[in-house]
Amino acid sequence: MDDHLAGRKPIQITDLARWKREGKRFAVLTAYDYTTASWLDQAGIPVLLVGDSLGGVMLGHRLRDGSPDTIPVTLEDVIHHARAVARGASRALLVGDLPFLSYQLGLDDATRSAGRLLKEGAMQAVKLEGGGPMIEVAAHLVERGIPVMGHVGLTPQRVHAMGGLRAQGRDEAGAALIREAVTGLEQAGAFSVVLEGIPSELAAELTADTSMPTIGIGAGAACDGQVLVVHDMLGLTVGPAPKFVKQFAALGEEIAAAASRFQAEVEAGTYPDPEHSYG
Ligand code: KIV
Repeated sequence: MDDHLAGRKPIQITDLARWKREGKRFAVLTAYDYTTASWLDQAGIPVLLVGDSLGGVMLGHRLRDGSPDTIPVTLEDVIHHARAVARGASRALLVGDLPFLSYQLGLDDATRSAGRLLKEGAMQAVKLEGGGPMIEVAAHLVERGIPVMGHVGLTPQRVHAMGGLRAQGRDEAGAALIREAVTGLEQAGAFSVVLEGIPSELAAELTADTSMPTIGIGAGAACDGQVLVVHDMLGLTVGPAPKFVKQFAALGEEIAAAASRFQAEVEAGTYPDPEHSYG
């Protein structure tokens, strides 16, 4: 068994690079709290992302069309959840998301925000969205010893610029921008890149052409790794989930059923019974 899965060694960014060279696929999940992080770490999930998706699933921020909104998420929010995740996970590589407006205002500002995710949030790497001017930001952080995961394609922090949360790179011009961003991130020294909401063929091409491990979400099966929002994967999401989500459990229904059973027993006076009471 792989040393990491046996729980002996914490995962490093260099392990992801090695897995890419070896053709070993890997799973990534989001986590926002101590308990979930503990279970996911115990399950051997090698990378946990404290995503700004916490805006939707933990805080209930919604766009006007009802879909989850990451824009209101603050650096303080991410740090708060990151600290809890770090207390729960001892093996997984921990990546903290830089939220909207925490890295767009200048290189110093980006360094301070990313540094806080490592220093106060106990993360080992940060993720940022976009290509273009964000390439310089990525290079600046990497040069200062902060590992960077890129994120291109459907980038939820640009929801208003994209005209909604919609798949990207479906025409030649859009695909060219994504190729350019991936090349730029690779040259900047990013250790991996999330490919979100792009055609499978484009993701396959990018995965073959870059030495960075690619982590897909709605980007087909050819990526080196796959990431899902843990609430989506567990069937906890309130409202419809995106097309690419597969539910590996139905915990939302389980919660509702358990709550109803509890309520029924309380109302009937059958809980607590002698077994669950002090003598
Ligand atoms: O915020 C997040 O959880 C993400 C992943 C879905 C990639 O960016």
